[in-house]
Amino acid sequence: SSSSVWDRSQGAHSTGAPESALAANSFSGKIQGMGYANPAQSAGGIHTRLFSRAFIVAEPDDFKRVVFVSAEIGMMSQRVRLEVLKKLKSKYGELYRKDNVVLSGTHTHSGPAGYLQYTLYLITGKGLIQSSLNAIVNGIMKSIDIAHQNMKRGRIFINRGLVEHSQINRSPFSYQQNPESERIRYSSNTDKEMVLLKMVDLKGEDIGLLSWFAIHPVSMNYSNHLVTSDNVGYASYLLEEEKNKGLLPGQGSYVAAIAAANEGDVSPNTKGPHCINTGESCDNPHSYCPIGGAQMCVTTGPGLNMFDSTRILGQKLYEKAKELSMTAFQEIEGPIFSAHHWVNMSDVTVQLNSTHTGKTCKPALGYSFAAGTIDGTGFFNFTQGSLEGTPFWDGVRDFLLTSPSNETQECHKPKPILIPTGELSKPYPWHADIVDIQIITIGSLAIVAAPGEFTTMSGRRLREAEFESHGVQGMNVIVAGLCNVYTHYITTYEEYQAQRYEAASTIYGPHTLSAYIQLFRAVAKSIAKKTVHDLLKGPEPPLFNISNTNLLPKVFDLTPLNKSFGDVLQDVQLQYRGVSISSMTDHTFLTVEKYDNSSGNWQVLYNDASWETRFHWKKGVLGRSTARIEWYIPQTAEPGVYKIQYFGHYKPLLGQVNSFNGTSSVFEIVRL
Ligand SMILES: *[C@@H]1O[C@H](CO)[C@@H](O)[C@H](O)[C@H]1NC(C)=O
Ligand SMILES: *[C@@H]1O[C@H](CO)[C@@H](O)[C@H](O)[C@H]1NC(C)=O
Ligand SMILES: *[C@@H]1O[C@H](CO)[C@@H](O)[C@H](O)[C@H]1NC(C)=O
Ligand SMILES: *[C@@H]1O[C@H](CO)[C@@H](O)[C@H](O)[C@H]1NC(C)=O
Ligand SMILES: *[C@@H]1O[C@H](CO)[C@@H](O)[C@H](O)[C@H]1NC(C)=O
Ligand SMILES: *[C@@H]1O[C@H](CO)[C@@H](O)[C@H](O)[C@H]1NC(C)=O
Ligand SMILES: *[C@@H]1O[C@H](CO)[C@@H](O)[C@H](O)[C@H]1NC(C)=O
Ligand SMILES: *[C@@H]1O[C@H](CO)[C@@H](O)[C@H](O)[C@H]1NC(C)=O
Ligand SMILES: *[C@@H]1O[C@H](CO)[C@@H](O)[C@H](O)[C@H]1NC(C)=O
Repeated sequence: SSSSVWDRSQGAHSTGAPESALAANSFSGKIQGMGYANPAQSAGGIHTRLFSRAFIVAEPDDFKRVVFVSAEIGMMSQRVRLEVLKKLKSKYGELYRKDNVVLSGTHTHSGPAGYLQYTLYLITGKGLIQSSLNAIVNGIMKSIDIAHQNMKRGRIFINRGLVEHSQINRSPFSYQQNPESERIRYSSNTDKEMVLLKMVDLKGEDIGLLSWFAIHPVSMNYSNHLVTSDNVGYASYLLEEEKNKGLLPGQGSYVAAIAAANEGDVSPNTKGPHCINTGESCDNPHSYCPIGGAQMCVTTGPGLNMFDSTRILGQKLYEKAKELSMTAFQEIEGPIFSAHHWVNMSDVTVQLNSTHTGKTCKPALGYSFAAGTIDGTGFFNFTQGSLEGTPFWDGVRDFLLTSPSNETQECHKPKPILIPTGELSKPYPWHADIVDIQIITIGSLAIVAAPGEFTTMSGRRLREAEFESHGVQGMNVIVAGLCNVYTHYITTYEEYQAQRYEAASTIYGPHTLSAYIQLFRAVAKSIAKKTVHDLLKGPEPPLFNISNTNLLPKVFDLTPLNKSFGDVLQDVQLQYRGVSISSMTDHTFLTVEKYDNSSGNWQVLYNDASWETRFHWKKGVLGRSTARIEWYIPQTAEPGVYKIQYFGHYKPLLGQVNSFNGTSSVFEIVRL
């Protein structure tokens, strides 16, 4: 039967939900990894590819629509957002805009760097790398294009459920600073709840799934050099693999995204902090080991190694999402709204209570930023929880950078300032001032686009901040993390006082959270009062004219003596039994192919996006790079005849980049 506009049981939302690869870019150029700010973590191959997943939801009469994109990158960057918005405008006019498009990063720490424009990231990411930026912008655009083309009428259902034993709070001593009256309202110091939207077409067939869960995708630690979407990415991969039977990763129509939430202080490494040298616990306020200091204090687990941990957590998230999807019956119905404005976060006056105001500060990073976390330790002798600077490091800072103004020092107290990013502007500003404040609503669902990493309690305060509702009962407020622009962390005022890593990285000072709550409430109010058009647009963020700069050494490729590009250096064995690793040595992107006796064709069963394959690329001396392809032959592999192919590129000392390919001998898989 047909239906009226608000009868969501028929002909409700149109949903398009495809994805596209953020091309893994690793031929002859080296790219720095993004997330750990560890200079040693450069890209050296691919475990799983990175995808952008786009969801478009429209009203039945298509009067209004909203877009949510979850991209498997470290964080959304202002540069990427501005470029995507520009492309959307030139292609779709006023259909997709800054107010109705939310771009979010999953926060994998094993993706490429080089796509953020502020100077701090030009340093940690070793440049602005045009190929990296373009791949991300084009990948996101492509996912939105496909979603746009594939929209069909459907319905959306919401469900929630707890995922147990998958997280720990990595700064429990900060969390403990929050008032007891607040803490006793929650059974855990992390949010264990997964919130999930299930999208179906009018026949009830699944189209896609979009969920949010608070966890750092840092199961893969900074010793990893393979591009990977980490734990949440593996969960998406499994969900899609199951529905898109027989297709290679990223190729089916069913799309499942696990997007970031308030994961600021949430580690997936569940064994808990211990000293890697002595094995004893370092579960103390400074995450400090008696021998070796803070750099020895790390957390790992739950698996035997980082691949195993990624697999275990991905599996857990996959199972919960699948269960929630199968049991989602509460329908999301009602009108769609979106509201957005830009705010200078260095300059917000916060009404703390009826008598007092506070102010946000120009951006600055504290000493404990350099200490890193138990998921990835920092440098030198920095420790978390530092409330005072040292003359030595203050001196280094003053010499290399600048000395923070008294005003900025005062504003950030008790944070001792290590990098006064807000007062550094050469060659470009070091941190963003102008931040997106954006909310989109779909019926009773409000998605708050958080421009950074909210800690558990910060996320709860934002979620529960009495958003004025627009006449819809029982609002479901989602804090979607790492959206639109990266501003590091947001702790509560109380957590800030302890100055662990997350607090030292709360760049706009102690009142950052209060400012966001005030700003997001105002935007929610404009939706409720239908005064969105009165929102001042705010100061536009800058787009710096930075030409491509890759600070990593330029590379070229040569072959070993008497070898050509594509030659096999170490071939496969001729036969493998049961579960084993098949590996070979040479260059770049790969396929694992099985011979199909009936048709006489080779059928591609795995590629470099597959969990079962690992592609390692190593730059050797004199331009001689080698690649090793590993296929972790699964128990389910059909007996038969197989071969492995690779498709690479090389760059001679002079001249164009050339492509080449190479093929292993054929080999046989036999039953155990
Ligand atoms: C990363 O994990 C591996 C195990 O997969 C472990 O051997 C290594 O010590 C870890 N590295 C760091 C820096 O935590
Ligand atoms: C943001 O506000 C600060 C403090 O008032 C000011 O110094 C800065 O120039 C402003 N930033 C922009 C981009 O307008
Ligand atoms: C308002 O906040 C200030 C600063 O936090 C505090 O000192 C004061 O007691 C508060 N006043 C009221 C009425 O809560
Ligand atoms: C860190 O090392 C520097 C230089 O060796 C020293 O001056 C400083 O006191 C040390 N700081 C701490 C907190 O140990
Ligand atoms: C900052 O404060 C110090 C000590 O309080 C004072 O000596 C100095 O002149 C001040 N600097 C500026 C630029 O006001
Ligand atoms: C950007 O900079 C380049 C030189 O680095 C210059 O040629 C170009 O005109 C600049 N573009 C704009 C829009 O300013
Ligand atoms: C390369 O080939 C030449 C001629 O066939 C041969 O003499 C030489 O030993 C080979 N070198 C190596 C390293 O295989
Ligand atoms: C494939 O065909 C060959 C020759 O036609 C035959 O010897 C072989 O047993 C067949 N393999 C399978 C798995 O059917
Ligand atoms: C592999 O390389 C050869 C020689 O350059 C070329 O002719 C062939 O088309 C390539 N095959 C594929 C599948 O790219």
